Amino acid sequence: MMPQFLPGATIGVMGGGQLGRMFAMAARRMGYRVHVFTPEENSPAGQLADATTTASYADEEAVGRFARQLDVLTFEFENIPAQTIDWCAALCVVRPAGAILNTAQNRLREKTFLSEGNLPVASFRAVRSAAELAAALDQIGRPAILKSASFGYDGKGQRRIFAQENVDEIWAARPGDELILERAVDFEKEVSVLVARGADGSSSTFPVCENVHRHHILDVTSVPAKIEPAVEKNAALLARTIAEQLDLVGLLAVEMFLRSDGELLVNELAPRPHNSGHWSIEGCATSQFEQQVRAVCGLPLGATEILQPTAMANLLGDAWQNGEPHWARALGTPGVHLHLYGKREPRPGRKMGHLTATASSADAAVRKVLEARAALGDARS
Ligand SMILES: Nc1ncnc2c1ncn2[C@@H]1O[C@H](COP(=O)(O)OP(=O)(O)O)[C@@H](O)[C@H]1O
Ligand SMILES: [Mg+2]
Repeated sequence: MMPQFLPGATIGVMGGGQLGRMFAMAARRMGYRVHVFTPEENSPAGQLADATTTASYADEEAVGRFARQLDVLTFEFENIPAQTIDWCAALCVVRPAGAILNTAQNRLREKTFLSEGNLPVASFRAVRSAAELAAALDQIGRPAILKSASFGYDGKGQRRIFAQENVDEIWAARPGDELILERAVDFEKEVSVLVARGADGSSSTFPVCENVHRHHILDVTSVPAKIEPAVEKNAALLARTIAEQLDLVGLLAVEMFLRSDGELLVNELAPRPHNSGHWSIEGCATSQFEQQVRAVCGLPLGATEILQPTAMANLLGDAWQNGEPHWARALGTPGVHLHLYGKREPRPGRKMGHLTATASSADAAVRKVLEARAALGDARS
């Protein structure tokens, strides 16, 4: 029998951000104890956990003390050092496995894994020198995107390369040390699929999410996505196949590009809850966070049917530029919900919270959530 962890058990979470915060709410509602490990004081997740260990991921003693108190460990952040996960795996069950985080935390490993599994990705090359960059640009073509292989998020560590640019100048301003060059995909839409997989191999996908980014940061997600049924099916199949090939136990987000001919290309994997899945708290029979609890604890996976068309709009620190947003104004519309992550400092570009709106159609939900955000006095919306 695969280990099963029933309510009353202690779930550890590596990472202290908003994904861990919403996970903690779902897990505690179900009767679990949640213990967060994060280097950050007063973290969004720590504020809602039963216990927090505030220490460095490199502190073996603190990691050991933390892991010994757990039944099962999961993640809300994938950039956890492999060594830290190994220390934990010696002391408790770790789901998903460290090897999956290792694949997902490096774009070269991730893209190599996908292409070796015959999963569709944009052409890419590893780039270690100006000469390799020149050769890769010749092979892949322009426009292309040069990305740092690790530690990128919200478009950080990326640079788009246009037709005329000089290779030596690009190399001099390269966005990191270990680099990957990708063909810039001419996509019609960006979509994502969340898939959960249990220790028994059962899996379940969430409805496809349609995502609009602004300045490389997710801005608005709406569901159902306006795509052909065949694309919806194919996207779900891709996500399920990736989860199987990874031998995932837990939750995985798969970001994809949809081209105008209906072709899907996989962009990024995240073996944890995802910003594009936040709509599921209000819009889906089971939220992505409850599904993560179920998957890592060995419980049956929850139903994932959409309850109502739903849209989610992120609230970045920019919304605070003229002072505290007008919360009451945004909440006057029926079907609008507010989520704030307990972050004190509203820096520009920092994810501070999100709004969700449910409505009779995805378009109506998007209109409603954007109106609600505009009502906050957010200059960006
Ligand atoms: N190969 C690509 N072609 C076209 N657009 C891309 C490509 N790679 C990234 N982008 C754009 O940049 C955004 C962020 O890139 P991504 O690789 O998902 O990194 P991260 O989300 O970690 O910052 C994507 O959602 C997409 O809008
Ligand atoms: Mg991304």
